[in-house]
Amino acid sequence: MRTIVAGNWKMHTDAGGAMALLGELADWSAANPTAVELVVAPPFPFLAAAVQRAAQPDAMGRKPAILIAAQNCHEQEQGAFTGEVSVPMLRSLGVGACIVGHSERRQYFGETDEAVGRKVAMLLKHGLQPIYCCGEQRQEREAGTHRETVARQMHAALGALTPMELARVVVAYEPVWAIGTGLTATPDQAQEMHAFIRGELRKLAGEGAESIPILYGGSCKPDNAEGLFALNDINGGLIGGAALQAASFIELVRIAGTVKYPR
Ligand code: PGA
Repeated sequence: MRTIVAGNWKMHTDAGGAMALLGELADWSAANPTAVELVVAPPFPFLAAAVQRAAQPDAMGRKPAILIAAQNCHEQEQGAFTGEVSVPMLRSLGVGACIVGHSERRQYFGETDEAVGRKVAMLLKHGLQPIYCCGEQRQEREAGTHRETVARQMHAALGALTPMELARVVVAYEPVWAIGTGLTATPDQAQEMHAFIRGELRKLAGEGAESIPILYGGSCKPDNAEGLFALNDINGGLIGGAALQAASFIELVRIAGTVKYPR
């Protein structure tokens, strides 16, 4: 099973800060090969430079292994959609993955499950890896309807995909009440939902579900990551705040490596 640690920079950094952060990560990655896959999602304006920096070998000729992802894309291939970014544009830059359906997109930009599903299909069509986010709101957790919410999100957005297509999707479970709040799902809560999501994926992808990575997201930090990454159905993390400093992001990658691939 793959293990992925993905950093979602959201609307943070500027040109200089983004390149400095990516430079630190790239140099670390070049010097510290790991079985953990590193994914970094900078804001749109920095993607082209990020792809180039991530491909640049260090002074000893060692290559970093960082996949650059976008944080969003449009569901159409092209057209009169002022201010939007298409999947073919991303692909032409060498961007390899894209976060879709993040709760902030759903909440502040009105993205529906169906629209997110069309984005997933467009990404797959052009060979980019979708990182599909799902997760319940605090009220849904309190009302005990969190499973229904996540099942609905999964089936509405991924239900039309073939098992072969699903094999190229990464799922991120991000309980909305844990994002940026400092509240983390307990390991029990997280494992329970990841196992539930794995069960839903089985309905869609059959046996293929066993190798679809399911990342945890929501205030995941070096001091709580070990307990989360150790769990069976947690295959890494989608990291917001702690991805904005090279040291904490690298620490998360290190923890994931130690926990998932003990020597
Ligand atoms: P957080 O964000 O780690 O800052 O909670 C996670 C995310 O929204 O992807």
